[in-house]
Amino acid sequence: MNAAYSTDGQYIHPSILNADFMEIGGELDKIASADSVHVDIMDNHFVPNLTFGPGMVEQIVERSAIPVDAHLMIEDADREAPAFAEAGAASVTFHLEAASAPIKLARDLRRKNTEVGLALRPATAVEPLLDVIGEFDLLLLMTVEPGFGGQSFLESMLPKIRRARRAISEANLEVSIQVDGGVSRETIERCAEAGANVFVAGSAIYRAQDAAEEISALRELARGHGTH
Ligand code: DX5
Ligand code: ZN
Repeated sequence: MNAAYSTDGQYIHPSILNADFMEIGGELDKIASADSVHVDIMDNHFVPNLTFGPGMVEQIVERSAIPVDAHLMIEDADREAPAFAEAGAASVTFHLEAASAPIKLARDLRRKNTEVGLALRPATAVEPLLDVIGEFDLLLLMTVEPGFGGQSFLESMLPKIRRARRAISEANLEVSIQVDGGVSRETIERCAEAGANVFVAGSAIYRAQDAAEEISALRELARGHGTH
C-alpha cells in the first residue's frame, strides 16, 4: 500500500476538480511532485455537483505517479465507500454527515488496505468526535462548503483546526489534519500554524502558470509555519 500521508511532515495534495478533464493524463503529470492527488467524488445529492465513480478512480490510480487521496462527497457512504478502496485509492475519506456507522465503515475500509479519513462540513462540530478520532488516520476539516473549487477560505474554521489539533496531541494520537477549500499562498500558513498538516489545493495549483513551482511554494510556506 502506498501511504497517502503520515502524521509527521506537511503534505500537499492537489485537487484535480479544476483540472482539464479532457487532458487528465497531462494534468496528472503536472502535479507529480506533490504528495498525493486529491480526487473529489461527488454524487449530485450530498453536494450539488457530479464527478467520478470508482472506475475513473481506478484509471487515475493506474496513471498517477503519486498515491490517490479520494474525498467522497456522496450519500450512503456505508454502502458506496468500499468500492473506492477496491479501486486502489491509498486513502478514502468519507463525510460524517453521510455515514450511519462511521466506526464500522472505518474498520471495514482499513481491512481493504486503505488509510481512512473522516470529513466534516464547516458547520459540523468536532468536539463530539474527539473520543473516536483514533479510529481514523485523518480528519478532514472542510474550509469551504463542499461542492466546488475556487471558493473563499472560511477564516472561522481556524479555531476548529486548533481545537482538533490540541485534542489529538493531548490524546497522543497519530491523526493527520487535512484542510480543503480556499487553500493558497495567502491562507496555507495560517492553516499550518493552527495545526493542519495535509493541504488540499485545487485552483491555486491548476490556475498557476507552473503547477510544480506552486506546489513547492505551498510546501515551503506550510513547512515554515507547521506546529506539527
Ligand atoms: C470542494 C472540494 C475541494 C476543491 C478545492 O468541495 O472538496 O477539494 O477542489 O478547490 P479549491 O482549492 O479551489 O478551493
Ligand atoms: Zn476535496
